[in-house]
Amino acid sequence: MITSNTIKHLHYNNEPLEFVCDAMTIDLGTYCLKHKLISTLESTNNRFRRKGLSVSEMNAKEMSPLKSLLIVYSYHHNNTQKVAEVMARVLDADIKTPQNTNPEEHQNYDLVGFGAGIDSGKHYRELLDFADKLPQVNNKKAFIFSTAGLTGEKKLAKDHSTLREKLESKGFRIVDEFQCKGFNTNVFLKYFGGMNKGRPNEEDLKHAEEFAQNLKGNEN
Ligand SMILES: Cc1cc2nc3c(=O)[nH]c(=O)nc-3n(C[C@H](O)[C@H](O)[C@H](O)COP(=O)(O)O)c2cc1C
Repeated sequence: MITSNTIKHLHYNNEPLEFVCDAMTIDLGTYCLKHKLISTLESTNNRFRRKGLSVSEMNAKEMSPLKSLLIVYSYHHNNTQKVAEVMARVLDADIKTPQNTNPEEHQNYDLVGFGAGIDSGKHYRELLDFADKLPQVNNKKAFIFSTAGLTGEKKLAKDHSTLREKLESKGFRIVDEFQCKGFNTNVFLKYFGGMNKGRPNEEDLKHAEEFAQNLKGNEN
């Protein structure tokens, strides 16, 4: 029988494997369990070694993963909310609305996502007003997302420009941006069954998931 203390002193390839061990008591006779533990440690070790981190830095990262917050305003068909929920699952993030968020709250987070539907070529006013109330920050990581009737690379750049400028002027560093189509029954469209019925669809949500995975992998 070994305890978490013993495991803390296990070595692999002459490097101490001193993480993922808290509060564990392992029966060494159970080969599979031991094998599983070693391979978990090995893959974690390799993952961080590729990034050139020391064991103590690995421990710090492993023990305190990125804390993420999503601020989302979505009302038309909850399109952006659906995208936000997928991203939040991947990032293990909290989702809040601008109305129920104190503008200082992001200080408890490492990464903040800002998302809404697009109205008249900009994020919804509720999110833009919230951005105006944010305090000045020092290079805090943020990302922007939206759903819209019409999409495309240039459309995204233009639709996001108002929010992007506001956030950058507050000192946020925008690490990535995401947009996909959302069901739209605005004004006359409702008489024709709307546009983008069923969007965001499974594929859109898969892209949102990949986008969030990528944010997670990019720790800079
Ligand atoms: C009042 C209103 C204005 C809109 N203006 C635009 C627009 O300028 N450009 C666009 O691509 N889509 C526009 N749309 C479509 C929405 O951006 C789209 O349906 C979005 O997915 C809605 O997001 P939500 O369900 O999260 O609120 C508009 C929708 C509404 C209701």
